[in-house]
Amino acid sequence: MERAGAVPEVLNRLHNEHADFARLLNLLDRQLALFADGSADYDMIGAILQYCMEYPDAVHHPKEDMIYGTLRSRDPALAAEIGDLEEDHRDLAEATRELSALIGRALAEEPVERGQVHDLTRDFIHRYRQHIAREELHVFPAARQILSDKDWAEIDGRLEGKGDPLFGKVVSDYFQALRTDIDDLAALVEGD
Ligand SMILES: [Fe+2]
Ligand SMILES: [Fe+2]
Repeated sequence: MERAGAVPEVLNRLHNEHADFARLLNLLDRQLALFADGSADYDMIGAILQYCMEYPDAVHHPKEDMIYGTLRSRDPALAAEIGDLEEDHRDLAEATRELSALIGRALAEEPVERGQVHDLTRDFIHRYRQHIAREELHVFPAARQILSDKDWAEIDGRLEGKGDPLFGKVVSDYFQALRTDIDDLAALVEGD
């Protein structure tokens, strides 16, 4: 059972970021159909992966590691049942770097097998969605149940304030085009 009361602010932010990441994954998903005739937008895919390294891997996941670390110290059995979140983050970061390197080679016009890029991109999307679902369904509810107000305040105090370069108030120059693609997709979906 979850603790009564408001959702801790940290969890709220992480949850909202999951919604942002889901929009990116939808954008990436739309690219999958375009590999067959060679019209996939490698620049866009590369920018999405770059973002995943700059924000989710560097800022979002370390926050979750702090939450999971506290949860593990309070209830090791429950943490074990949920599975090692830190390991999941390391694996995800490695998969992101690998795919990003492959896209980088394609953009540099080195020979890259289109089918391989397609399959790795498909697997990446699937894995990211599973990861987010696991956190929403298992990690966050367990953290709400186990962590105290003092724990949340302590985690909040240790967090860095680095802004989101894509979904934040200030969009970096590098991500401007991707930001436009995301907004275009949102307009398209709303117009359906
Ligand atoms: Fe995560
Ligand atoms: Fe997350």
